[in-house]
Amino acid sequence: MVLLSGKSVSQAKKDEARQRSDEYSSLYGRKPLLAVVLIGSDPSSQSYVASKRKACEYCNIDHRDCFFDSDISESQLLGFIDSLNKDEGVDGILVQLPLPSHIDEHKVILAIDPSKDVDGFHPFNIGSLLLGYPSLVPCTPKGVLQLLDSYGISTASMDACILGRSNIVGKPMGALLMQKDRNATVSTCHSLTSDIVPFIKRADLLISAMGKPELIKASMVKKGAVVIDVGFTRVEDPSSPKGYRIAGDVDFEEVKEVAGAITPVPGGVGLMTVAMLMHNTLQAAFSARGVSI
Ligand code: GUN
Repeated sequence: MVLLSGKSVSQAKKDEARQRSDEYSSLYGRKPLLAVVLIGSDPSSQSYVASKRKACEYCNIDHRDCFFDSDISESQLLGFIDSLNKDEGVDGILVQLPLPSHIDEHKVILAIDPSKDVDGFHPFNIGSLLLGYPSLVPCTPKGVLQLLDSYGISTASMDACILGRSNIVGKPMGALLMQKDRNATVSTCHSLTSDIVPFIKRADLLISAMGKPELIKASMVKKGAVVIDVGFTRVEDPSSPKGYRIAGDVDFEEVKEVAGAITPVPGGVGLMTVAMLMHNTLQAAFSARGVSI
């Protein structure tokens, strides 16, 4: 079994990003800048945003915290995003999701200039991805592919099963895997799939993004399959100092005995997501100067 270490690959990708960022700074006289918009005080969102800030600091990317109380109105937020769009000193804009229920997520994503949309969530970027055009690609699926590439795992002719159809992971993951440079055959299961087990059992590549702690057991997984766990759920754990632990969708201890390769949680895909955010910020920054990287 090969342990797919998001820790070591993300470290290498962050080192690469830091080099590119230094190159950018020496060419253009300032660092690339990522603006991170956070509404409210959801603990998970705060912790994601903190890890993004830390990665920016490591990669010599400037970081602008744009934090608002959860009672900010939708129009105030849209106005603020417009000011970031117009600010030539801002290269990337990330609005941390989920948003409070009185704010329409779709309107907010649409408001972000697609050339600064480092999450790759804008319909222009998602449409470009679907068509196979160059675009800003959502960080988690991009990180999964980077991890597979780093271990020399080709997805060509694999039966891939994706669990979850979110706009952030499942849908773009499927679109990327079926492109002509990846050549996987993709099944996407979701909450209303009548029986996910037969899909999982035939998968050479299983990518789980359900947020259902340790649901995937060894008996469901094909021997030698590549198992990518995107799940990242806080579960209560009185024995841990924090009172909780992070669990993936996969029962790692069981499934590692049958998988050919597997990601741990934590230490897997989550770290890759943050590293890819750094790369997307650099892609946006260079692209604004007419340079494609
Ligand atoms: N919330 C959970 N994952 C993500 C992500 O990748 N980007 C943003 N903006 N919000 C998220």
